[in-house]
Amino acid sequence: MTLPTRSIGDLSVSAVGLGCMPLSFTAMVDDRERALATIHRALDLGITLLDTSNIYAPTWDTVGHNELLVAEALRSYSGPADLSRVVVTTKGGITRSAGEHWGRDSSPQGLRAACEASLQALGTDTIALYQHHRHDPRLTYREQMASLAALQRDGLVERIGLSNVTAPELLLALDVLGGPESGGIVSVQNEWSPRYRGEPGVLDLCSRVGIAFLPWSPLGGSTQAHVIGSRYAEFARVGEALGASAQETVLAWLLASSPVMIPIPGATRPQTVDSIVRALSIELTDDQRARLDATAPEMESMYPEDQPRSPLG
Ligand SMILES: NC(=O)c1ccc[n+]([C@@H]2O[C@H](COP(=O)([O-])OP(=O)(O)OC[C@H]3O[C@@H](n4cnc5c(N)ncnc54)[C@H](OP(=O)(O)O)[C@@H]3O)[C@@H](O)[C@H]2O)c1
Repeated sequence: MTLPTRSIGDLSVSAVGLGCMPLSFTAMVDDRERALATIHRALDLGITLLDTSNIYAPTWDTVGHNELLVAEALRSYSGPADLSRVVVTTKGGITRSAGEHWGRDSSPQGLRAACEASLQALGTDTIALYQHHRHDPRLTYREQMASLAALQRDGLVERIGLSNVTAPELLLALDVLGGPESGGIVSVQNEWSPRYRGEPGVLDLCSRVGIAFLPWSPLGGSTQAHVIGSRYAEFARVGEALGASAQETVLAWLLASSPVMIPIPGATRPQTVDSIVRALSIELTDDQRARLDATAPEMESMYPEDQPRSPLG
């Protein structure tokens, strides 16, 4: 099955991806069969973008859990999808250590060690898109970009994306690494949903420069996704008129907001993937879009930043 596609630099991927995080964090972590069936369903339906991270794991000492799961899902897949078209994106820069201590390390050595562990977990020689997960306040942002550039220069990663980035940081990154045209920054993964409309100016900048924007927790995260239609009733009302669910309407609204948008909703059930793919065929009218744009966000991030921002450098 072929789905509409969008670009991440020179890559062409399905216009929605699968966010694999909940498969390693939720209560269903022990249900490996269902986790694999969920990823397999995404592949069957033509999803060619799987988003993971080294730190998506139930505990600090199982870091790599989600990457291993994605690798197993690809290895064990026997359906019709052409796996050569599937892009796995992962991330580095956040650390987890004994006592469930969460930290940051974007030093050249720290990021390289994280990237090498991801290569091993994913069972690959190079990562198609490596995303800098969050800034490391011990270093300037420029230094962190240099750590990423070294991974690309040495062939560990083919393309670079940023996550949880502000507009000034993105501008600096573009200055250091260049944009999609010159093989530099090709994607940004920031929070964006009805509840939170992202860091000011970042989506506009991405749209202008042609950088793919992967909104994370597009449905407000696992705890809110199922009640999004009651919290943001306009999405349920517009959905009803279209014969779609509130969640499908959210995804259609995101897709309509910019050609660079590539939502990566999480799912833990094959049926959820069916619904995600249905969202791709929804056409919103200008009036419906305006009504959805006008819904008031809560302006509170799912995971508020707990570290001072890095100096730009
Ligand atoms: N870069 C970062 O810092 C960062 C942070 C957070 C997340 N992420 C990425 O973003 C991805 C998505 O975020 P998320 O998983 O936290 O939140 P989310 O996508 O907002 O919500 C996930 C939940 O939405 C439900 N869902 C998805 N599509 C649905 C549909 N069409 N109808 C009904 N329910 C639907 C799923 O239900 P079921 O469980 O019932 O299937 C799942 O529990 C993650 O998987 C991860 O890859 C990145």
